[in-house]
Amino acid sequence: MTQRNIVTRTWGSSVGKKSVMAVTGVIFLLYVIAHMIGNLKIFFGLTTFDNYSVHLRTLGEDIFGYGGVLWIIRTVLTVAVLLHMWAAFSLWYKAKRARPIGYQHKSYQGSYAARTMRWGGVIIALFVIWHILDLTLGVVNPLPENAGAYQKLVASFDRPVVSIFYIVAMVALGFHIRHGLWSGIQTLGGNSALRQNSLKAFSLVVAVVVTAGFVIIPLSVMFGLVR
Ligand code: HEM
Repeated sequence: MTQRNIVTRTWGSSVGKKSVMAVTGVIFLLYVIAHMIGNLKIFFGLTTFDNYSVHLRTLGEDIFGYGGVLWIIRTVLTVAVLLHMWAAFSLWYKAKRARPIGYQHKSYQGSYAARTMRWGGVIIALFVIWHILDLTLGVVNPLPENAGAYQKLVASFDRPVVSIFYIVAMVALGFHIRHGLWSGIQTLGGNSALRQNSLKAFSLVVAVVVTAGFVIIPLSVMFGLVR
């Protein structure tokens, strides 16, 4: 088989698409964990948080210029998310076409986990769009674009509807990580019967820590702990 054939075959096969989902999922998860840890700086006050936001842009400035590293991260994330969604859609479409008729209860839509993943994915995607418009571009934030990151965050979460939307999205993210991480590790070769339970427990712990680490911020603003 030529090199090109191997790529086309892997790309076109279900196993190949699942691997694409697993690898891009891990990339996104690493970003999410780093982002969650960074966000917790909100508890150290306005100056620390705003400095952190500036630091994200001055990181590696000597080599990549102002905001260069951030743009590299943005590009990698965008490519990863698009590939992740393309592979998910493609696998769903293949499963749907394989069983077009003859099932009651819309069973072509797949298992409970598959449906939760799909709807969770849609909620997370909508959340990320809102979130960038809110805290990065400032378009839907009550404060002007040039206000500091800390104040924009507090102003955003001062709107209960927005906080509740964030919390719902973070819970959806938790469910997505719990199943996605477990399933992704299996795709990438961690599929031993012995390890099943520890893998499930590990995925659950990661999901709970990430969700809790994010959710604590809108809750703290809502309850007046962060002002
Ligand atoms: C309560 C939860 C969250 C808070 C408080 C939060 C906070 C922030 C802040 C303050 C920014 C702007 C950073 C800056 O420009 O200085 C930001 C950007 C961003 N956040 Fe979040 N975030 C949260 C959850 C999430 C989640 C769960 C995801 C992914 C699923 C996410 C993905 C992003 C992305 C992609 C950006 C844009 C980065 C950029 O291009 O500059 N965030 N977030």
